[in-house]
Amino acid sequence: MTTLGSRGSFITFEGGEGAGKTTQIRRLKTRLEALSLACHVTREPGGTPGAELIRTLILDGQRPPLDALTETLLFYAARANHLAEGIRPALMRGEFVLCDRFSDSTRVYQGVLGAVPQATLDALETLVVADTKPDLTIILDIPTELGMQRAAARRGADHADRFESETFGFHEKLRQGFLDLARAHPQRIIVISAECDEASIEQEIWMKISERFSLERGKRA
Ligand code: TYD
Repeated sequence: MTTLGSRGSFITFEGGEGAGKTTQIRRLKTRLEALSLACHVTREPGGTPGAELIRTLILDGQRPPLDALTETLLFYAARANHLAEGIRPALMRGEFVLCDRFSDSTRVYQGVLGAVPQATLDALETLVVADTKPDLTIILDIPTELGMQRAAARRGADHADRFESETFGFHEKLRQGFLDLARAHPQRIIVISAECDEASIEQEIWMKISERFSLERGKRA
């Protein structure tokens, strides 16, 4: 059980495309708020006006490609603003912060797949994230083909963004990258299969959250 003190709880959701993170975050928020526990739902890249501006630039599927280091610095610029103006203030208010992607995405997308060295990512992490590390990270794991199908269905006729337009091989490496991270950080990261129906996934997440955090009604709202 996590000891909370006055700081809220920082929970991140990770995984490949089409794993259903957004839906599960929404469902978790509903459950927490039913107990009068305040939630700050947010996402990366983005989450604050400044970081959303950087998001638009990063995800623009039509822009010229940027080298992996430049792209990484943009993600960390967005993250610095998000932490300063979104995440840390919410944690200071004692809230649950539910964040759709965070540093683990950079580790996998820019590190494993973009070949940015671990040492560079470690340095940026120390500089930008410092001690605002997630208390818990939930990886929603889905077979690559199914995830790509779901992401395409969700997108409809819209343009694929910078990452959605990558190949099957890219998305398969992505999946393995997240699973490797989970093996490397078993205390912080849990993997939940996102293959079954939304209600069952919600229930499994709720069980894990109940095990880890004190959910006494209204205690921190
Ligand atoms: P988004 O539409 O939010 O994707 P998803 O619904 O799959 O979460 O777009 C975010 C994209 O940015 C996603 O493809 C993952 C990628 N990304 C990185 O490459 N590095 C990062 O550090 C983060 C936070 C996201």
